[in-house]
Amino acid sequence: MSNLTTAPARLNADPERLQKRLDTFAALSEPGSGPGVTRLAYTPLEREAHAVFADEMRSLGLTVRTDAAGNTIAERAGTVPGLPALGTGSHLDSVPNAGAYDGIAGVVAAMETARLYRDHDVAHAHPVRFVAFAAEEGARFGQACTGSRIVSGLTAAQDLADKQDADGITLADALRSVGLPPEAVGAARWEPADWAAFVELHIEQGGVLEAAGTPIGVVDLISGSTRLLLEVTGRASHTGGTPMHLRADAMAAAAEIVLLIESLANDTRHHGTRATVGRLQVEPGSITTIAGKADLYVDVRDVDSDRQRLTAAEIVERAQALCVRRGVGLTARALADASPVILPGWVRETLADTCRGLGVDHRVLPSGASHDAQMVNHVVPTGMVFVPSREGISHSPLEWTGADELALGADVLAAGLLELDRRLAAARDGHDEREENGT
Ligand code: GLV
Ligand code: MN
Ligand code: MN
Repeated sequence: MSNLTTAPARLNADPERLQKRLDTFAALSEPGSGPGVTRLAYTPLEREAHAVFADEMRSLGLTVRTDAAGNTIAERAGTVPGLPALGTGSHLDSVPNAGAYDGIAGVVAAMETARLYRDHDVAHAHPVRFVAFAAEEGARFGQACTGSRIVSGLTAAQDLADKQDADGITLADALRSVGLPPEAVGAARWEPADWAAFVELHIEQGGVLEAAGTPIGVVDLISGSTRLLLEVTGRASHTGGTPMHLRADAMAAAAEIVLLIESLANDTRHHGTRATVGRLQVEPGSITTIAGKADLYVDVRDVDSDRQRLTAAEIVERAQALCVRRGVGLTARALADASPVILPGWVRETLADTCRGLGVDHRVLPSGASHDAQMVNHVVPTGMVFVPSREGISHSPLEWTGADELALGADVLAAGLLELDRRLAAARDGHDEREENGT
């Protein structure tokens, strides 16, 4: 028999401690960047946030390391040598002018879990790893979840040279600029045999839980995303001197493409698809010059991978026809592509049973946003816990979740990891016994 853990009395997360950590991270924002939090991927500020995480984890007696991709991993030893690890965590970077919760909620809940385990002397058979992922947001380089894609083997060193930010800095150079060796990211890969299960807590970033008055969501499905850059080339010319019928106006074509994309996503054939132009860059950007160039950044999301890719292909095809009609050019580039992911039922059921055991109401729901969980699920069976987002708002300074709501999520996380530990250890012992008995 292995050294099975006994379930401790309920571990209650401290809302004040959680809020204090949220405030500490929120203060790490690019000066002069406007409202909300701006802490972009692979910047000194993101590294500072990782150092805050690492310091608290070290103070709790955990072993802490940062991998070549900039992910910070703190480990609490298990009681049975040689077992694969359980893990939890989320990301510390943000979009421009973000709120204080996206990603951070999952990291502070992981920190709280580590604190509760230490304070209550909790023993678990498997080691537990607390992870702060780097560069989850696609806002800077187009590609989301870079840190977790690297550990999952979905992004390799050779993929870091062709992704650029708005200033032309490549992902590889951005890593280098914060002291991370891009050529060595292969070493950050996780071995499936080294992992037993992973759970990410996140804010919902939608309004389902709030509308239903349900405090906890357990995620079954995470949307995929196809990202495109549509470059429209017109002819820059004088706004007064050029008659309307002699124009090749890149801005007017772009405006029509934006509306085309909206109407395609609203089409019943694409029901469930969300398609957005979140960024439109126009050159030369002068009130007295017809636009010669317009770049549209398009994000197509869906829980159905066929519909996601078909919608993206239809956007390109229809935009091409529209540009021919308007006498402007169009180049379409793929910026990033991630498939939707179905999370494993047994992890989800364990989290749902944990909620039942704690007497906490929950509902199962899909995620519209992308998550590190989606990537690491390629190497380790993963679950997700959602806490409510006020008015469903996210990627905005108005993003908000009550400290009590987050604390309840952290309770579920702390207990859920221990339930996974208990079930996995029991399954393993049953297996060992069967082997010993030759059955
Ligand atoms: C991550 O926040 C995403 O864009 O879904
Ligand atoms: Mn996030
Ligand atoms: Mn986000």
